[in-house]
Amino acid sequence: MSEGASVPQGPDLAAGVAIGQLAQDATLLGRVGDQAVLLARAGEELFAVSATCTHYGGPLAEGLRCGDTIRCPWHHACFNLRTGVPLRAPALNALDCWRVERRGDTVYVREKRSAAAPAPVAPDGAPRSVVIVGGGAAGHCAAETLRSEGYDGSITLISADTAAPCDRPNLSKDYLAGNAPEEWIPLRPAEFYREQRIELRLGMRATAIRTGPRELELEGGEAVPYDRLLIATGAEPVRLDVAGGDLPHVHYLRSLADSRSIIQAAEHAARAVIIGASFIALEVAASLRARKLEVHVVAPEALPMAHIFGAELGRLIQSLHEEHEVRFHLGSTVRSIDPASVTLSNGARVGADLVVIGVGVRPAVRLAEAAGIGIDRGIAVSPYLETSVAGVFAAGDVARWPDRHSGESIRVEHWVVAERQGQSAARNMLGRRERFDAVPFFWSVHYGVQINYVGHADSWDQVEIEGRVESKDCKVSYRRAGRTLAVATIGRDLESLRSEVELERSQRGA
Ligand SMILES: Cc1cc2nc3c(=O)[nH]c(=O)nc-3n(C[C@H](O)[C@H](O)[C@H](O)COP(=O)(O)OP(=O)(O)OC[C@H]3O[C@@H](n4cnc5c(N)ncnc54)[C@H](O)[C@@H]3O)c2cc1C
Ligand code: FES
Repeated sequence: MSEGASVPQGPDLAAGVAIGQLAQDATLLGRVGDQAVLLARAGEELFAVSATCTHYGGPLAEGLRCGDTIRCPWHHACFNLRTGVPLRAPALNALDCWRVERRGDTVYVREKRSAAAPAPVAPDGAPRSVVIVGGGAAGHCAAETLRSEGYDGSITLISADTAAPCDRPNLSKDYLAGNAPEEWIPLRPAEFYREQRIELRLGMRATAIRTGPRELELEGGEAVPYDRLLIATGAEPVRLDVAGGDLPHVHYLRSLADSRSIIQAAEHAARAVIIGASFIALEVAASLRARKLEVHVVAPEALPMAHIFGAELGRLIQSLHEEHEVRFHLGSTVRSIDPASVTLSNGARVGADLVVIGVGVRPAVRLAEAAGIGIDRGIAVSPYLETSVAGVFAAGDVARWPDRHSGESIRVEHWVVAERQGQSAARNMLGRRERFDAVPFFWSVHYGVQINYVGHADSWDQVEIEGRVESKDCKVSYRRAGRTLAVATIGRDLESLRSEVELERSQRGA
C-alpha cells in the first residue's frame, strides 16, 4: 500500500510532445508540474489523466488500456479516460483530468479540468428511500453510488460494526503488521457521510425485515420504513467448537475492533498459534511475524490453499511462510486450548499466549431467511441482484448470483466483487436493470508477494503453469473441459488484466 506515489518521470507534457511519440491505442507517461500524467490516444481523440490510481496508488502506466478506459495493474480498478471517473471498484475517487490541445504535430497538456456533476435521476425512476443493512464493502459502495448516480432521496446505512465502513482487507495485512496508520483504514471520513446526506447508524443491528409493510426492525424495536432495501450483511467467522475456544486470548478477525484487539494482545504476547491456513489465517501469520512473535499454524489440510490455487502455488505459499520462520502443523486439528498452549489432535502441545482462529466464514443470512427471502447457500439473487422479494436486493459475501461465465450460481468472498455488487445493486435500485456480470477478482499478499486471481474455479481438471512458480513469476490457468475458468498470477500484473479481459469476452460469447 505504501509503494504508490510515483516520482514524476517522462517528458514535460505541458511543454508539448510530438504526436509521433504517442502510438494509436497506447499511453505515454509524462508529467505536468509535479504530477505524473498519462497521455492516451484513441484515433483522433487525446486524453490526459493522473497516472496514479486513486485506490492504493498503483502505476496506471503499467496497467491495461481498453478503448477509452484504463485498468490498474494492482487490484484491477478501471477508470474512464475521458472523465477520470472510476468505473469499477476498488478505486472510489476519480482521476484528475487535463485538457489536451493538438497544434500541428505537437500535443500539449493544458489546465486541469473540473469534475463533471452526476446526471440527475428521473423523479419517476427514483425510490423515496433506500435502506442498506451492512456497513461493509457492498453497503458502503451502494450508498456512495446512489449519490454519484444523482439520487437525491433518503439513504440510511445501518451497521452492526461500531466503526464506519473500513478497508477490511488491510485489517489482516499492513494494519495488523503495524505498517498502515489508522487514518488509512476508514473508506471515507465522517464528514463524507454528512456531506452526502447518508445517515450512518453504527453499532446498530437489524433484527427483522417485514416485507409486507416494507419495514426494517432494529434492535430495541424501532421500525425503519424503506422503499428499496439492500441486504449487505456479509459473512461471519465460523466459530470453532473446541474446549477453551472462548478463552480471552482466543481471537477471530472480521472487524476493525477485532484487528485492534489482536494488535493489543500481540503487544504482550511472544507465541501465537493460528488455527486455519487460508487467506486470513496466513495473512495474520505474516503480520504477527512482522511483530516478531513466534508463529505456529495448525490446519487439517496437507498444503495451504491448494484447494484454491492448486498444489504448486500451495507449496510456494507454505515455503514463503517457512522462510519467515512460521512453523506449520499440517494434517492436524485442535483438541483443546488452555491459557498457555494449544493441544493438537496428535496430543502434541504448542505454547501460545495468543490464538487466532481463521477457519472460514458463513454468509450472514439469518435476517433474510427469517423474512422468507429465498436462500440457496447464501441469499439467492437474480442477475440484477434482486432477491425473491421485489424491492429487496442483496450484494457482497452474502449473495449468490447466476455467474454467466461458469454457468453456475456462485457466491464469493472477495472485496472487489462485494464493492462492485454494491455499485451494481445501487443502480438497479434506481431502476437501471444492469446485469451483474463482472469477472470475479481477488488478491492476497504474503510477505510482499501478491497473488492476483481472476475468474472462479471451484474445481478443475487441468492446471497450466507458464513461467516459474518458485521464482514468483508465473501465470497459472485453471481449466475444466478445456475451458479456462480462472487465472492466478504472481509478478505478472499485466497478464492478469489481459486474462480478465479474455474471461469477460468469453463470458459474453457464452
Ligand atoms: C481480515 C480480512 C482480510 C481480507 N482480505 C481480503 C483480500 O485481500 N482480498 C479480497 O478480495 N478479500 C479480502 N477479504 C474479504 C472481503 O473483506 C470481503 O469479501 C468483503 O468485506 C465483503 O463485503 P460485504 O459488504 O459483503 O461484507 P462485510 O464487509 O463483512 O460487511 C458486512 C457488514 O454487515 C454488518 N451486519 C451484519 N449483520 C447485520 C445486521 N443484522 N444488522 C446490521 N448490520 C449487520 C456487519 O457489521 C458489517 O458491517 C478480507 C476479509 C477480512 C475479514
Ligand atoms: S492500487 Fe489501483 S486498484 Fe488498487
